[in-house]
Amino acid sequence: MVFIMRTFKISADIIECSKNELSEDDSKLVQSAEGFLGHAYAPYSKFSVAAAALLDNGIIVKGTNQENAASPSGLCAERTAVFFANSMYPDNKVVTIAISAFFEGEIVKNPITPCGSCRQALLETEKRFNSPIRLILAGREKCLIVKSINDILPLNFDSSFFE
Ligand code: THU
Repeated sequence: MVFIMRTFKISADIIECSKNELSEDDSKLVQSAEGFLGHAYAPYSKFSVAAAALLDNGIIVKGTNQENAASPSGLCAERTAVFFANSMYPDNKVVTIAISAFFEGEIVKNPITPCGSCRQALLETEKRFNSPIRLILAGREKCLIVKSINDILPLNFDSSFFE
């Protein structure tokens, strides 16, 4: 096969809004994550993160970052939440995940975005259920809404390469 050299662009629509523009359901999910920040175990970084995952059965499953003295053994909030959700409810899609973070006495100004490993883990759940997972990344006042994990992990690795 011959391929002619070309450049292609990958883009995604990310919504930026203020917290008070969120729908009632989204706002509830953000509040659910914010209210769970106190459950983080972050004695080393002092950076607390909480993720609240809304499932298609209406249940909200929450997770926080869990650090470890041997740092690679800890886990981010997003993976804690989604692994917990998939373990508890293996047949239910994750529809939306709200993510909040707290540092030095307040909710962080800028919405945090999931690390690469979390994107990969969330993508697996998205592909497993063949249904996009929305993210609401919530800062102190500003929010970013991502429509699908695929949008923030382009050119990703998945099981299609095993064929
Ligand atoms: N962390 C998360 O839980 N989620 C993110 O999206 C970014 C980082 C955690 C890992 C570590 O416990 C702390 O935040 C500082 O990196």
